Amino acid sequence: MYKFKSSEITPEHIYFSRRRFVVGAGALTGSLLFLGGCKQSELTSPGESINFCETAVAQNAMDELGDALTPCGSVIGYNNFYEFTTDKEEVLFRAREFRSSPWEVKVGGLVNKPATFDMDDIPKKFPVEERIYRMRCVEGWSMVIPWLGFSLSKLLKEVEPTSRAKYVRFETLYDPKQMPGQKDDYFGWPYVEGLRIDEAMHDLTILATGLYGKPLPPQCGAPIRLMAPWKYGFKNIKSIVKIDLVEEMPVSLWMKSAPHEYGFYANVNPQVDHPRWSQVSERRIGELSRRRTLLFNGYEKEVANLYEGLDLAKNY
Ligand code: MTE
Repeated sequence: MYKFKSSEITPEHIYFSRRRFVVGAGALTGSLLFLGGCKQSELTSPGESINFCETAVAQNAMDELGDALTPCGSVIGYNNFYEFTTDKEEVLFRAREFRSSPWEVKVGGLVNKPATFDMDDIPKKFPVEERIYRMRCVEGWSMVIPWLGFSLSKLLKEVEPTSRAKYVRFETLYDPKQMPGQKDDYFGWPYVEGLRIDEAMHDLTILATGLYGKPLPPQCGAPIRLMAPWKYGFKNIKSIVKIDLVEEMPVSLWMKSAPHEYGFYANVNPQVDHPRWSQVSERRIGELSRRRTLLFNGYEKEVANLYEGLDLAKNY
């Protein structure tokens, strides 16, 4: 007997808000979280993003500190992607039609061999590996995510930066037809971010093309995004189309929008408060009580040497 799907019998706005409830509940509760991720599939059709979690895989179930992975349902259901909406639980729905193929990443600036990489060739040229990283948002929440990606250094070596190249500048696609948030000129689109060249060449810095064993879904920055895990989440620019090697420190979207709140470095640091809130602790999505935020997000051993002699309070 044919069974009605809830999408067929429920007016769309109620259907969406029900689904939102499930994602939201998943984002906030502990062990219920994974259930939240699975339950969504019953409510959704065709539900490409929701089905995502049913077949999601990760090699390891925890990071190197022994922290559990954030359930898939929350990773793909609670997002910041202002090009679509500022509502974290709505991004999934607004981004579902986003076309991330065909896709090219143009790499140029102060390099000997500028190149345009077709997204279809990137996995062949730069095989991906799983990297389980903590991600700490500047807003005070965090997740543990099993990414698929490769070290950015591999791509940069390919284009041969010249000795004048001191920084790397990244740019997200600008396409207000697909990304309606870009019609609002409150932010200076496109989204831009930057790293110092030694940060970009650090082995922890990856270009991620997938998570939970599958290609990135749109809301998570398909088809390719940055992930530098010792920095606040906003550095991890999504849906990258352009990478330039430059001499001057790039001005990011956040530096331009609120320079007194967001600096270039954005290293996770519990001792340096955001002007409007403390950074001492964080809410790990899926946990009930807050946990202490770690310097450099727990990657101090690996990256502290990059900042020797730098005043971290001034260079926030
Ligand atoms: N990249 C673009 N292009 N647009 C954005 O709005 N948000 C940033 C970052 N990258 C953002 C972006 C912020 S504030 C965070 S916390 C992370 O993406 C969130 O990544 P996630 O949605 O995959 O958890």
